[in-house]
Order: sequence, then structure tokens, then C-alpha cells
Amino acid sequence: MLGLDNFNSYYDPSLKRARQQLLYKNGDVIVEADINDSQLLIKFFQLVAAKDADPQPAIVWASSSSVDGLNKASPFSESHRTDQPASLYATTKKASEEIAHVYNHIYGLSLTGLRFFTVYGLWGRPDMAYFSFVHDIIEGKPINIFSNAKRDLTYIDDVVKGCIGALDTAKPSTGLPGGSKKTGPAELQVYNLGNTSPVLVTKMVSIIESLLGKKAKKNVVEMPSNGDVPFTHANVSLAMRDFGYYTSTDLGTGLKQFVKWYVDYYKLEVISKKEKAQEKVHRHERQSGREHHTIYRANFAMHRIVTVKLHL
Ligand SMILES: NC(=O)c1ccc[n+]([C@@H]2O[C@H](COP(=O)([O-])OP(=O)(O)OC[C@H]3O[C@@H](n4cnc5c(N)ncnc54)[C@H](O)[C@@H]3O)[C@@H](O)[C@H]2O)c1
Repeated sequence: MLGLDNFNSYYDPSLKRARQQLLYKNGDVIVEADINDSQLLIKFFQLVAAKDADPQPAIVWASSSSVDGLNKASPFSESHRTDQPASLYATTKKASEEIAHVYNHIYGLSLTGLRFFTVYGLWGRPDMAYFSFVHDIIEGKPINIFSNAKRDLTYIDDVVKGCIGALDTAKPSTGLPGGSKKTGPAELQVYNLGNTSPVLVTKMVSIIESLLGKKAKKNVVEMPSNGDVPFTHANVSLAMRDFGYYTSTDLGTGLKQFVKWYVDYYKLEVISKKEKAQEKVHRHERQSGREHHTIYRANFAMHRIVTVKLHL
């Protein structure tokens, strides 16, 4: 696999670098480059996508559940109207679906858009709610929760299975090499990849609390009326029909995997309240001159100490 990423700092790029290294160990290369660099893209595709390929390769790309915007019909189906976006981000995804239509129509490119529904899990994005909630609860920081907001959270492994299914079943393009006219109609598809079971954000927080053994400092606030949607809920029957998509990870299991990864990735040393109390005694003994020689944790300085008791 060859990837492309500009490693921008929208969130901590060291996480992106760590993903790059992990992929590299598995023989997959992520090149540092900007996708807006058209000259580079031409070279890239000549190199990777076999410029003489006939028919040209098919494209599977990331759309988003956000295109459903203020759609009130639940669950969201790919055939529902998507002209009520609630954010500019959603508008860019909606526009991408329209652009896909044009390229399919004119050039015969086979295009499959995947509408992801709030993907969570290992190696995820720190700006997403589940990730920042785990971080803030551990740190003892307050979190803002939108009352009544529901999300169809979908575990990364299930989404990956869906991506592979879509790639494996994508039909060939019908354009001629060099981007000239199509030789016939080509495939144009959009699929929902969700979990089909929306949960209240408050429920997600209570699962995280029980995994961490620590209560969140919650500010339950009304969801602002701009930029966000009250709920997402996927109907995945199309993906199930065309490539056997189904999900097998419930939220509790997925969040457990995420918390394990989080503790490992950020090298958190987890100590129980009892150990914390012992540590205080040791510190007191040190300060009062009665050095305790069995002080545990030689690597104390290297690790962050987190006073939560994990229930994993
Ligand atoms: N995570 C979700 O829940 C979710 C839901 C719906 C849709 N999506 C879509 O899935 C795709 C991947 O999302 P993600 O959550 O993995 O996000 P991500 O931010 O972790 O990954 C996107 C990557 O693109 C890179 N990038 C940004 N601009 C670039 C540019 N100009 N050139 C090269 N690389 C660039 C970033 O550095 C980043 O590593 C996005 O298109 C996103 O809109 C994600």
C-alpha cells in the first residue's frame, strides 16, 4: 500500500508519524506530500496506478454521514435527500458526491463514496469526542456533553472491513487511458458504513467512566443550533447486499479496546487509589529524612502517573 499525507498539525502530527511508522513496519509506505500538488499526483498515479491501465482504476473515497445533515428520517438511507447540511464540512462532502457524479458521467470513472458514521477506536483522532473524553476524564478536566445528542458510533475494524469490501467489489472504470471519453456507463455508488445503533453521548460517557473507574466532571449543555446534528443513524442494507457488510463490535467492547490502546500509546502508568496512598506515605517518609529504599517505580520520571483504576 502506498499512502499520501501532508502531516498537518490539525491535531498532534506525532500520532500521524507513529501511524506511518507502524504501517512502514508492515511494508506500507506513506509519502509526505500534499494532495493539492497536481504535478506530484500525476507522477504518483503514473507510478502507482499503472498509466496504461485499460480500463482505468476504480476509486473508493471517504464521504461522511454528515451529508445527511438535518435529515429527520431515521435510519438514514443513501436514497434520502442530502440538501440540508448543518456544517461547511458536510457541504464539502456533499459537493464531493456531486463532483463524483460529474467525473463518472463524463469520464466513465468508477466511483464509490463511503459515508462513515463517527468512526472510533485505536489510532483515532484526538479531536473526536470519545478520544477527548477519555483524555479529559483521566486528567480530571471537565467535559461538555450535548444533552440528547445521539451518534451511530462505528468501530474502526468494522469500518475497515467495509472499506475492503467496497474496494474488492468496485467495478472497473470505462474511460480510456489519458482521460478521454468513456466507452460506456460506469459504476457510481454511495454506501453508508455505520453501526445501525445510535447511542446517547451520555451513555458513551458512562461506559468510559466505568472503564476508567473514574467519574467525569460533566457539563451537560444544550446542543448549539448551528454546526452539529441531533443524531446519526445508518441504514446499511445496501452495503450488506453488495459486499456483505455487517458490524460485530458493540460500543462497550470497542471503547475497551480504545482505552487499552490509549494507556499503552501514551505510556500511562496506571495505579490504583491504594497504590496512590502508599506513594504519598513513601513521599512523606522521603521528605522527613526516612528514605524508604523499596520505592517502587524506578521509571517514575519517565511515565505519567494516572490515578484511575481501569476495569479492563
Ligand atoms: N473519523 C470519522 O469519524 C469520519 C467520519 C466521516 C468521514 N470521515 C472522513 O474520512 C477521511 C479520513 O478521516 P480521519 O478521521 O481518518 O481523519 P484524519 O485527520 O486522521 O486523516 C486525514 C489525513 O489527511 C491528511 N491530510 C489533510 N490534508 C491533506 C492534504 N492537503 N494533503 C495530504 N494529506 C492531507 C491529514 O494530515 C490526516 O492525516 C476524511 O475524508 C474524513 O472526512 C471520517
